[in-house]
Amino acid sequence: MERTLIRDLKQHLNQEVKIQGWVQEFRNVSKIKFIILRDRSGDMQTVAFKGETPEEPFNLANEITRESVVEIIGVPVESKESRWGIEVKVKDLKIISKAQTPLPIDNSDKGLTGIEKRIDNRFLDTRNAKVGSIFKVRSKIVKIITNFFDDQGFTNINSPKMTALGVESGADCFRVDYFGKPMFLAQSPQVYKQMFVIGGFERVYEIGAVFRAEKSHTTRHLTEFTGVDFEMGFINNHHDVMDFIEAMFNDLIAKLPAEAQKELTTLGATLPSMVKIPRISVQAAKDLLKPLGKSYPDEDDLDAEGERMLGELIKEKYNSEFVFITEFPWAIKPFYQTKDEKNPKVTKSFDLLYNGVEICSGSQREHRYEVWAAQATEKGLDPELMKEYGDLFKYGAPLHGGAGFGLDRITHRLLKLDNIREAVLLPRDPERMKP
Ligand code: 4AD
Ligand code: MG
Repeated sequence: MERTLIRDLKQHLNQEVKIQGWVQEFRNVSKIKFIILRDRSGDMQTVAFKGETPEEPFNLANEITRESVVEIIGVPVESKESRWGIEVKVKDLKIISKAQTPLPIDNSDKGLTGIEKRIDNRFLDTRNAKVGSIFKVRSKIVKIITNFFDDQGFTNINSPKMTALGVESGADCFRVDYFGKPMFLAQSPQVYKQMFVIGGFERVYEIGAVFRAEKSHTTRHLTEFTGVDFEMGFINNHHDVMDFIEAMFNDLIAKLPAEAQKELTTLGATLPSMVKIPRISVQAAKDLLKPLGKSYPDEDDLDAEGERMLGELIKEKYNSEFVFITEFPWAIKPFYQTKDEKNPKVTKSFDLLYNGVEICSGSQREHRYEVWAAQATEKGLDPELMKEYGDLFKYGAPLHGGAGFGLDRITHRLLKLDNIREAVLLPRDPERMKP
């Protein structure tokens, strides 16, 4: 007999079916045994009755433990008492894999176990419908974003994650011993995405691992995260990149409810409505914050508190959960960004904040070799040591720009989770190397 998924049981009323899954709950009420079974599509009550269910499976049910994998042959019938409206009458039962007791965590909806122990036992944790839903939503986000890039003429690339080119800033790279030579874990695919815009693809994107050797202990920083990076050629300036991001987010928010309806309901998530994202310069943002007692030197970035406060101000002023902060000071941005010709103290750059948390950074990139080399030198970098990067601009490079998102941050903020770790199956932070 073929396996029937739990979500399809209603189409098989009063017919014998085979279902397989994990035991979510087991209750033994004198002559009735209830087994709540869970598979990837949902959960369902199954019942065995003394005298009605054959004796062998009825007795075997006593051996069942929570989270065991079992197979049940039974008949779905309508039931007023069951919260599913139906239940499956057990005809036969097989224990495929018996779970040991006690379980190392409580993965029921009571959620009694703390996040660290849950991550130690993530494979048990993700069986919980709420936890599983986070990752199903995350998977749909990737699907929608991927389709959007594809529809807009982007080519998906995979760039090396071990590299000798680190350009975001030298300090936060993990070193790898590569047969005795030093290499780094990629802290962004920055050089490579530019390489293949210039390599003729014009528009490229990559969804892949990004590594940062930052000893941050916050609810939004990890040492390994999933970057959604893209780069586009033949733009006019960084505003074209922001236009693209705005369109991408509108598309995501429009399509996600249909793609992940069940999961969003399980999580009780409400998505933002978004049409236009306001754009304000860092200077204007600082001016807004000043009356609230937050002031910054000219060449400083906003801190986490400032970003959070700004998020609230923007919500009041523009009724938007998103805001682009633009024209960051050259002093605090990577050397590869294009300086604003009207005010060379700032670059053609932006951050996207979502409810007061940065989820994306981007800019126009310097595409003129001489200017690029001069900017590297100005930041104390030796262009000769980055020959592979500099060569890109010597043989025909269009004006281009791009940005990088953290997929984990998008999921974390969109679902309003209290910690980025909730949005990552197996997070890495300064303390965590396992599983
Ligand atoms: O702002 P970042 O460092 O920018 C870059 O890597 C540029 N190359 C992007 C570009 O195309 N100009 O990182 C991009 C995004 C951040 O906005 C944030 O969402 C996420 O990556 N991110 C992190 N997520 C989790 N943990 C961390 N430690 C993160 N650092 C950055
Ligand atoms: Mg950034």
